[in-house]
Amino acid sequence: MKKLTITTILKRKNGAPLVMITAYDALFARLLAPSADILLVGDSLNMSFGGNADTLTITMDQMLYHTNAVCKGARDTFVICDMPFGTYTDEVSALHNALRVYRETPSDAIKIEGGVSKAHLVKHLVDNGLAVCGHIGLLPQSVRAEGGYKVKGKSEEEALSLIADAQAIEKAGAFALVIEGVKADVATRVAHSVAIPVIGIGAGHGVDGQVLVFSDMLGLYEPFVPKFVKQYLNGATLVKESVKTYADEVQSRSFPDETYAY
Ligand code: KIV
Repeated sequence: MKKLTITTILKRKNGAPLVMITAYDALFARLLAPSADILLVGDSLNMSFGGNADTLTITMDQMLYHTNAVCKGARDTFVICDMPFGTYTDEVSALHNALRVYRETPSDAIKIEGGVSKAHLVKHLVDNGLAVCGHIGLLPQSVRAEGGYKVKGKSEEEALSLIADAQAIEKAGAFALVIEGVKADVATRVAHSVAIPVIGIGAGHGVDGQVLVFSDMLGLYEPFVPKFVKQYLNGATLVKESVKTYADEVQSRSFPDETYAY
């Protein structure tokens, strides 16, 4: 698959849906890349990979480490690095931290959460040469402020506010945006309200693409499975069964037999 660019991503508006999937390391990036248009080094890695309750504690250095690993595993895939919570609170910090992504990794773009209230930051980053993907709707980085993960778009007021968010992020110069945890009919309206691709997660199919967290869709993350996640593999069971077989064979001395010995 030919590596996408900002230009070819923009051309996918109302075209073939974009396939985005998270990746956190080179090992999985290599496995996921053949079927993905875009790999997102999501700060969700702080949960499934880092074992934390939410995304808020991941650092810039940790994101850079994982982004470099993903880029090494998927050299021909468009890679987006999520900006951690607290690293884009104002124009100076946003630009300083976003520039670190370009200087210290070969990734193609960054992603920041927020709509109207973050549009000025998106504009500042775009004006300074960065490719920015927005993220509206349910914002995981607001989980503590909002007291949980709340589906958005349940009222006409919320729908209009989401449309305003999307249009502000588009006007600020973002090349795409992720819409998360939004009623499907509202997400469709949001997608129709802008000319940039809108990539959904828990937002129905009336958008321009889908993103899933790889450990969710492969059934590897057991603590919580959101309603919108389809598990394409029973990964946790397969891993545990394989390791149990290995442990049993070690204990019975049937591994290694002569096939696996020098
Ligand atoms: O961090 C992440 O994995 C994300 C996706 C949920 C879109 O932002």
